[in-house]
Amino acid sequence: MAHDDASNRSRKRTFPEILQARRSRRAVLAGGLATAASTFFAGSMVLAAPASSGTWAANRGRKSLIGFAPVSVAEGGGPWPAVSTDYEWDVLIPWGDPLQPGGPAFEWPPTAALQAEQIGIGHDGMWFFPFRKKDSSGSRFESSRHGLLALNNEFGLNMHILGKPEPESLADVRATQHAIGVTIVELKKQGNKWQTVKSRYSRRIHANTPMAFSGPAAGHELLQTINGNIPLGTVNNCANGVTPWGTYLTCEENFDDYFGASNLNGTWTPSLAQQRYGLSNEGGGYGWHKFDRRFDLSDPEYANEENRFGWVVEIDPMNPVQPPVKRTALGRMKHEGATVTVGRGARVVVYMGDDEAFDYIYKFVSGDNWKAMRARGENPLDHGILYVARFNEDGSGEWLELSMNVPDIASAFPDLGAMLVNTRSAADIVGATAMDRPEWIAVAGNGDVYGTLTNNGGRATADAANPLAPNPDGHIIRWRDADRHTGLTFTWDIYLIAEDTHGTEDSFSDPDGLWADPDGRLFIQTDGGQKDGLNNQMLVADPASGDLRRLLTGVTDCEITGIAVTPDRRTMFVNVQHPGNGDPTVTNFPALPDGMTVPRDATIVISRKRGGVVGS
Ligand code: FEO
Ligand code: CA
Ligand code: CA
Ligand code: CA
Repeated sequence: MAHDDASNRSRKRTFPEILQARRSRRAVLAGGLATAASTFFAGSMVLAAPASSGTWAANRGRKSLIGFAPVSVAEGGGPWPAVSTDYEWDVLIPWGDPLQPGGPAFEWPPTAALQAEQIGIGHDGMWFFPFRKKDSSGSRFESSRHGLLALNNEFGLNMHILGKPEPESLADVRATQHAIGVTIVELKKQGNKWQTVKSRYSRRIHANTPMAFSGPAAGHELLQTINGNIPLGTVNNCANGVTPWGTYLTCEENFDDYFGASNLNGTWTPSLAQQRYGLSNEGGGYGWHKFDRRFDLSDPEYANEENRFGWVVEIDPMNPVQPPVKRTALGRMKHEGATVTVGRGARVVVYMGDDEAFDYIYKFVSGDNWKAMRARGENPLDHGILYVARFNEDGSGEWLELSMNVPDIASAFPDLGAMLVNTRSAADIVGATAMDRPEWIAVAGNGDVYGTLTNNGGRATADAANPLAPNPDGHIIRWRDADRHTGLTFTWDIYLIAEDTHGTEDSFSDPDGLWADPDGRLFIQTDGGQKDGLNNQMLVADPASGDLRRLLTGVTDCEITGIAVTPDRRTMFVNVQHPGNGDPTVTNFPALPDGMTVPRDATIVISRKRGGVVGS
């Protein structure tokens, strides 16, 4: 869903200026302008890895990690997915399929009761949690054929779910509320086919599911409503994260779209704090506030309800009775994702993008070794420090602390809880770098971190980290933190500018989903208007060799998003979100033989025909 409403294209940088900016960025990291210039003109669209990139520098010029035949530009614009001829694929768990075999089948339009027992809509970030099994010798292993898929259900348009532009009753609102959130579903590969199986774990978490708060803002007055402090539900669950202790993180992105003001009690206008999060009288068109008071910003009894969204939510897929927990230490923003890695001292580090034009990139570092914290009964995501990124013009960067230790923050907020509820305002105060819509972040095995900046049509003034003004097609930034992800400084460069690929076989725009595999491959997914006649797509990059290839394309007016793999990486799950934008006259993908004509968001499962890890 685009939150890019600015449109001033008048101050685009000239090409020589852009080239100079990129040269200087890369010169800093590669050790000299000569190196930067020679790699720029080498003809590859993927820039060389920085000289500091240990493994990659040693491997530079080595054979590509990518061996598959790419989907060509000419093949990538049709009404049906195109997948590399070296791969096979299948459709899995479309919206509305029963969670349990034998459960209620898809009906359109659905009711809330049906949706609570069915796969949600708007397939987005996800992860596969394998079951542990014993082999014949009694050794334990993680299954690559049987486990739980945790799947975000980001959003569904009213036209798609209800067949009308606005809800006309509370029952309509409940149907859309129960269609989104998160799906936990048990999957098993039987023969060569992945299927849902009867499960005590499969469940739906939606916009009315009881939850808990934890961390510094839990219990804060800004999170209290008529319901006390029990938060209900999660919305706009975009990208995700996975913790080393085996839980799933789901991230609340454009929560403002679900709120609006009926103004039955007078004239309501958003406060400055509410405006900073995009909250408005009109909302995003879902119309929930017209029938559900909880989402009516002008209803005084539900004041603060909007503060209860915009968080990272932790779910234990293996514990179906445990309520999801909103982890307030990770801040409140339009969370795209929450990419977790383990840094120096076994502290957990969480990288997060806030997807709005001119918003920021954040990281959280736990206060201690995560295992020690858990042994003490602490959740590592509840105790630590939140930082926001400043990208300096010279290729250096700083992580700016967001806490009451910072005098300007301490004078602006009464306590840490209030600061966390207004994370964006705290980041404004310390001087973070306004980015071109930060989306997913991926941590590569060599320690490099990549972040997609999907686009920013409203950028009027370029800077080194956001070098195009306007930036309609996006770019990917790369950085390396000091002290194995825990340091306060970093170095960075621009890895890829989407515009540079246009007119070539590498063409892509609007990078969004991103995942780094342990071998060094980078999977890039897109969400936006592609150039050269392409549908949204997934490409695989090998930054060390400079190779970039298109593994698949989706269908007309869909987004490709979400990546999960089995432990052996021989199976990958990828999502086709909002095919045809829900319009049956555009496509009825996946057109399973069920007689339905409404297009349905679905996961596709891909594997290499002749074996091998996906991406090779
Ligand atoms: Fe939900 Fe920023 O994509
Ligand atoms: Ca989306
Ligand atoms: Ca996204
Ligand atoms: Ca997006």
